[in-house]
Parts: sequence; C-alpha cells; structure tokens
Amino acid sequence: MASFELLLLPGDGIGPEVMAQVERLVQWANETGEAEIATASDLVGGAAYDEHGEAVSDATMEKAIKADAVMLGAVGGPKWDGVPYDKRPEAGLLRLRKDLELFANLRPAICYPALADASSLKRELVDGLDIMIVRELTGGVYFGEPKEITDLGNGQKRAVDTQVYETYEIERIARVAFELAKKRGNLVHSAEKRNVMKTGVLWHEVVTQIHKDEFSDVQLQHILADNCAMQLIRYPKQFDVIVTDNLFGDVLSDEASMATGSLGMLPSASLGAEDENGRRKALYEPVHGSAPDIAGRDIANPIATIASFAMCLRYSFDLGGLADRIEGAIAKVLDQGYRTADIMQDGKHEVGTTQMGDAILAALKG
Ligand code: IPM
Ligand code: MG
Repeated sequence: MASFELLLLPGDGIGPEVMAQVERLVQWANETGEAEIATASDLVGGAAYDEHGEAVSDATMEKAIKADAVMLGAVGGPKWDGVPYDKRPEAGLLRLRKDLELFANLRPAICYPALADASSLKRELVDGLDIMIVRELTGGVYFGEPKEITDLGNGQKRAVDTQVYETYEIERIARVAFELAKKRGNLVHSAEKRNVMKTGVLWHEVVTQIHKDEFSDVQLQHILADNCAMQLIRYPKQFDVIVTDNLFGDVLSDEASMATGSLGMLPSASLGAEDENGRRKALYEPVHGSAPDIAGRDIANPIATIASFAMCLRYSFDLGGLADRIEGAIAKVLDQGYRTADIMQDGKHEVGTTQMGDAILAALKG
C-alpha cells in the first residue's frame, strides 16, 4: 500500500483539540492497515508567532511543501490582536495558500438529515442540501497590490485593496468547477459582479469561453454575487456547484454553511495544480475559526476537521472508500443522537470533543 506523509498544523484556539481527534483516526487507520500515514506536527498562526515571531516559519513552509498533504486546525484569537499586520495569525494561513499555490478551495455545504432542524432555514429548504462552493483562493483582493494605507497628511488616510484577476487564474478555477459538476449535478453557477467590477466582466467572459470550448455538456448559469447570496437563503437547493472569486467565496461559503445547521460541520480542501505525476499540493481545514471563547474546554465540534481528513483521504491519498466510511460514521453518530453543544437539540445526547471522537471511532469499528 502507498504510504503518505501528512503534516498536522493544529494552530490556535480549538485547533489542537479538534486535530487530536484526527490523530486518533490516523492511528486507527494505521493499526487496522486501512492506510499507512506518517504524521508530523508543527506550529502555525499565533502559536508559531509566540515561538518564532512569524505566523509560519520558513522551516514549517519547507515541511508543508514536502508533505503529501497538510491539515490545519484554526488560526487567530484576541491574544494576537496587537501583533504587526504581516505577522498576524491569519498571515500564516494566507502564506500557506499562496506559497503552495492552492488556488482551488472546495467548500462542500452538506446538510445531514439529522441536523436539518438545526438550520436557521426551514427543514424543507435544507433537508438533503448538497452544494459545492469552489472558491478561487490565491488571487483577487486578498493578494492584489497595491494593498496599503497612506497618510494623506491632512488628518485623512486612504486605504487601498486591489482586486485583480488574470485570464489563466479564472480558467483554471472554472475547469475545477466544471470537472466537479460532471461528477455531481452537472450544474455550475458562476458568481461575480460584472455590473460594477471589471474583474467581474473578465470572469464572466472567461468562464463563458471555457464552458463553450471544453464543458458545453455541463449546464452553466451566470449569477450576480449579491443575487447568489439572496438565492442561497431563498432556495439553496437550486445550486449544485458555485464557482466564484476569493472574497465572494469567503462570504458565500460562510452563508451556505449556516444553511446546513452549523459552521462546526463544514470541511474544506484547498488544492493546487496537478503535477506530471497527477499529484496536487493540498491543505485541508475546517471552515470554522479558532473559537477562542470555547478553547481548551473539550466542547468544540470536531466533525468539520474529521470531515476535512476524509477529504484528504479522498483527494490526496486516493482512499475514497475509507473517506466514505468516515463520512458514514459521522452521519451514523448524528443519527444515534450524539451532539456537541453547537448542534445540540432537545432530547439528544450532548457530548464533548473527545466523546464525539470516541463515538465516531466506535461507529467505524462497529
Ligand atoms: C476562511 C477564513 C480566512 C479567509 C481568514 C482566516 C483569513 O475566513 O478561510 O474563510 O478570509 O479566507
Ligand atoms: Mg471565511
């Protein structure tokens, strides 16, 4: 069996607690011969800043580049509110995305039937929901230059962020979206603001061309990003794959996640281009943040991180069968009534982080 190297970057806040549950799954998979995964752990975010004065060190970046895949917990917290902007915890995550060229961020928003009542939307709107948001991750306003605040000298300042996209960046993310749609519902919504933004005009033009040239068998709908936000609340099941830029993707994925019941449920995969051996650089992380308010109390929901590990098995280690089983175990423990505090409902069985890990392991073994 192929063996893999997985770098674990638990990060800050609840990151280490939820990542510990993934370590247990790795151990189980190794012991049972389901997989051969060697893990190493390192620092990122505020934890790395405290140790090295950087949100991610060069040495850690080297390990990340060499690993077959990286898993990240979460970064940030009020403790680091005062650190210089380029050393803030989020800068570590952004450097990983940028330097590993992880341009394609896959954010599935799936509503587990057992949790349909935990959504802020009505059950009939979300039961069975299965959306894939494909967010461009290495371009746009996150990285465009200039990005600065200038003192105008008259008591005024001017802040500038730059939204910039080139054709190739839109082409490659569009291809990822169309390829995924072919394996799902065969429908892509491309969201931009071409009514106000030049990047939106180019986005629309390039996606249209790629569709015409390479994917005319997939259904394509263009949608303005603000309308997309509204439609996600009005009738989310109309969507299959949504492809959009870095900033709209950030916002729309948080919005879509709430339709599923809890931000604590959603995994993500950030993928680079395929190399000559068909391998991609990849980083897997939960969509939720570091939740410093509940850190260290063993009450955080580990499901998003465990589901991110399942995505890692599927996309990086070619162990789709094992990924299916882990996702099945998550669905099973929810059916059995296990709930962490964030998804707790009347009559269900409230458990902590470790106990949720116990339940998922038991479901896998059973
Ligand atoms: C996300 C987060 C990040 C982002 C932050 C932590 C930099 O919100 O992954 O969605 O804005 O991309
Ligand atoms: Mg976000």
